[in-house]
Amino acid sequence: MRIVLLGAPGSGKGTQSQWLVGRFHIPQVSTGDLLRAAVAKGTALGVQAREAMDAGRLVADQIVLGMIRERLGEPDIRGGFILDGFPRNLAQARALDQLLAQIGQPLDAVVQLNVDYGELSRRIAGRRTCSDCGRVVNLLTSSPQALERELCPKTGQPHRLFQRPDDNEATVAERLRVYEAQTRPLVDYYRGQGLLRSIDAEGDVTEVSVRLEQALKG
Ligand code: AP5
Repeated sequence: MRIVLLGAPGSGKGTQSQWLVGRFHIPQVSTGDLLRAAVAKGTALGVQAREAMDAGRLVADQIVLGMIRERLGEPDIRGGFILDGFPRNLAQARALDQLLAQIGQPLDAVVQLNVDYGELSRRIAGRRTCSDCGRVVNLLTSSPQALERELCPKTGQPHRLFQRPDDNEATVAERLRVYEAQTRPLVDYYRGQGLLRSIDAEGDVTEVSVRLEQALKG
């Protein structure tokens, strides 16, 4: 199964990708995660990407497409994949179509996750990530006691949680603006290809996963 998850910042792309990985045993390819790893390593690419990410703008297509070409060339991709946060504009979507045509692996579905803007801001404000295992949690939906009890699989200690640097109010406002201007047009692009499915991505995480699975069957 070859899937794109399309949605605004905080719509749950990463959360639902993780669920799909467990359900279908296919890898998640997140350009946000790949870029954050490059920033953390301080590679030349990471240094170039950081400025755009901190400002809430898209990283240059040339950088992102280079990373995607490399990642989609790896052997674990042959059984399918979940694209999370890619493509983000029409140029990336067209480049992806070409790349997948070359390797004979066209997309099966593009699922749009619909979430109200107030809820997106709420989710982003409460998001925290474990610096050791990368687990993403939300302070607004998990009780502090439950978070303290849950041990990190890497360290065996409680998770060491941090807030993403681009989850501040000003950067989030810019990310949402960029989503509307550059990414939302992909809804029509994929509708035109007959690949688009839209789901209500509000409510409990498990309920959203059920809707997602149904959309993928349809
Ligand atoms: P990226 O990392 O892709 O961020 P994003 O698209 O802004 O999406 P988020 O990670 O904010 O949200 P999500 O939809 O994954 O939500 P999550 O599941 O975490 O990109 C970051 C930056 O990198 C970009 O701004 C850009 O600079 C650059 N970049 C990345 N890709 C690029 C590309 N292709 N081209 C150019 N530049 C690129 O959920 C959010 C929170 O809500 C979590 O706390 C979660 O626990 C909680 N939550 C999830 N579902 C629910 C639910 N149903 N109910 C309640 N809480 C929920």
